[in-house]
Amino acid sequence: MNIVYYAHSGLRYLVLLAALAALVVLARGLSGTRPYDRPARMVTGIYTGTLHLQVLLGILLVVLGRWYPAVMGHLVMNILAVAAVTVLGAWAKRAADGKQAYKYAFAGVAVSLLLLFAGIASIGRHPFQSRALDQVQAESR
Ligand code: HEM
Repeated sequence: MNIVYYAHSGLRYLVLLAALAALVVLARGLSGTRPYDRPARMVTGIYTGTLHLQVLLGILLVVLGRWYPAVMGHLVMNILAVAAVTVLGAWAKRAADGKQAYKYAFAGVAVSLLLLFAGIASIGRHPFQSRALDQVQAESR
């Protein structure tokens, strides 16, 4: 259980970093006339991939028994975050022109990130706060 908890706690930093990188690349695309190219697809894909892995680890935590009512809010918000980036990311791939594609992809990552923040807040943490670290310190005392 602990190893999954630490992995879930740590992977969140990668997910947040991937979201930030995607927003920067997609914002540059929004302000230009480029097609929705390979780098744009890659950053959106990397964010979506790390997010999916994070959700799997989260579900594993629940299956292993880490559960209290507030986790329900965390779970629902994070599933909605996955849905937002998956649906808008798919629309971006099928968009008629580059500008529209960047709009969809940027909105997908931005809305998804806001839902992640809400999901993390629902278990009483801010995005960079970790109780996993408190636990490590307590165990080493
Ligand atoms: C369906 C998806 C998810 C489920 C079922 C889930 C489940 C859980 C559970 C059971 C905990 C432990 C709560 C506690 O001990 O207080 C937790 C903690 C946490 N989760 Fe998730 N999670 C999911 C998705 C995500 C996502 C997508 C993120 C963010 C990228 C995330 C970020 C966090 C953070 C930051 C913590 C606190 C870790 C710490 O205090 O060190 N979770 N999650």
